[in-house]
Amino acid sequence: MKRRRLTVLVSGTGRNLDALLKFRSQAKRRWEVVQVISNKPGVAALEIAQRAGIPATVVDHRQYKDRIDFDAALALAIESIPSDAVILAGFMRVLGAEFVQRYAGRMLNIHPSLLPLYRGLKTHQRALEDGQQWHGASIHFVTPELDGGPVIKQGRLRISPTDTPESLAQRVFAEVECKLYPEVVDWLASGRLELRHGRPALDGEALHSPLLSDY
Ligand code: GRF
Repeated sequence: MKRRRLTVLVSGTGRNLDALLKFRSQAKRRWEVVQVISNKPGVAALEIAQRAGIPATVVDHRQYKDRIDFDAALALAIESIPSDAVILAGFMRVLGAEFVQRYAGRMLNIHPSLLPLYRGLKTHQRALEDGQQWHGASIHFVTPELDGGPVIKQGRLRISPTDTPESLAQRVFAEVECKLYPEVVDWLASGRLELRHGRPALDGEALHSPLLSDY
């Protein structure tokens, strides 16, 4: 199934959104970003969308009394411009199970760690504190379990002895995330990647463990 019309959800700097748009413009891609939605107003990701001429809207989570109401408003905003898949790109809200099930098999997230290591926040700091040799990012289908969905592909790099949480975060983005996410999004959008019986399948082959690239 081709998933060529993409909605991208953001919360902040929008570097992953920017990487997706750059990837798409380099070669005529079979997919397009039809809407960008942020849960926070005034963030850089919204300016990136506007500069690219993409409809950008804010569903401000602070305006809703609870998660269920926010998720319902978010779903309405997503459906206001029909799309085939939802891409979380630096989206920092936990989404409820009902919302997530609605997009099962057509919602991706990027998490800045080699899952299942370091779910949650401050992943770079935690990897450094543990003296890890490798660190990186994971692309996974979104399920109700936070950062727990089936991982499709990971990218990793060696942690340098001089790395700080900030330098490592910057390296993981610049050397890994900005290449890894566009590649996997392209697979989903072009119909090569699917979620079958809870497991990712690429070109019809089930992935029994995440694909891995060294950067
Ligand atoms: C990135 O580290 C990404 O891995 C995580 O959110 C952070 C910010 O993303 N999901 P962006 O710069 O807003 O795209």
